[in-house]
Amino acid sequence: NDLDRFITGLPKAELHLHIEGSLEPELMFALARRNRIAIPFRSVEEVRAAYDFSNLQDFLNIYYAGADVLRTEEDFHDLAVAYFDRAAADGVVHAEIFFDPQTHTDRGIPFDVVMRGLLAGMADARARHGLTAKLILCFLRHLDEEAALATFRAAEPWLDYIEGVGLDSSEVGHPPSGFVRVFAAAADAGLRRVAHAGEEGPPAYILEALDLLGIDRLDHGNRALEDPLLTARLAREAMTLTVCPLSNFKLRVVKEMGDHPIDRMLALGLRATINSDDPAYFGGYIADNYRAVAAARGLDRRDLVTLARNSFLGSFLDDGQVSAHL
Ligand code: HPA
Ligand code: ZN
Repeated sequence: NDLDRFITGLPKAELHLHIEGSLEPELMFALARRNRIAIPFRSVEEVRAAYDFSNLQDFLNIYYAGADVLRTEEDFHDLAVAYFDRAAADGVVHAEIFFDPQTHTDRGIPFDVVMRGLLAGMADARARHGLTAKLILCFLRHLDEEAALATFRAAEPWLDYIEGVGLDSSEVGHPPSGFVRVFAAAADAGLRRVAHAGEEGPPAYILEALDLLGIDRLDHGNRALEDPLLTARLAREAMTLTVCPLSNFKLRVVKEMGDHPIDRMLALGLRATINSDDPAYFGGYIADNYRAVAAARGLDRRDLVTLARNSFLGSFLDDGQVSAHL
């Protein structure tokens, strides 16, 4: 219908996308075959049926297992190109994508293989669609800060190609305060900083991400709404929240899409954006996420324009590039 077309046609930036979470079962099968890896599934349907989770940890276990088929530079290239083609079809003109190097280096895949493959995919996206992209290196918070520091050292030759660092994986029990030194090192190197906080973790983790990690953008941030003072601060500081509605529904951050707080966030003056998180696992890409909340919360075109506009304002493009997109 009309609103569908409006959503797809709306130029937008994607600010919260784990490239490993864009691995579709079809590509998983193709890569398993190409790399001669046995996977415990006979069909794409069996893979999809195994995507049964109702919280972050259960999802993460499946997501890390899926990433095992990614072995070569070509695999990372093909993964990235598949995502960018899909994103471009949804009206994404700029994407700032997360990657989890530890998921790969811990399996013996060299950091350089991951980087070369992703950068080649980004170059293809630029050539095919005019889509621009930036990389955000995420540290896995279920591993310790020494491991994050070692990852940051492995990244040092590549820092010209990395826009920022992030913090993801199992939130509860792994607060931002455990990653102060590695985020300080990233800041010293001139990198941007983001962190997942307030997805399952309490508002106190959001405060730590702000005050101890010095984040430029907050990933998820849903639970900020439990603390009015924190909400007011985020609004005052024009902090961008990268909200992921289908993820929130699948991981039971919200019970029903009808309970999604996206319109409440906008009403509170928060700079909320809509993103897809792990689209191959959560049932949709960015336009599906816009559509899902638009339908569930009765968003109108003005709200959708605000959300898309926020995605450029919250991006790490420079001011001139942001203005060109508004
Ligand atoms: N939260 C934390 N870690 C993640 C996620 C998420 O939604 N997706 C991939 N890694
Ligand atoms: Zn995420």
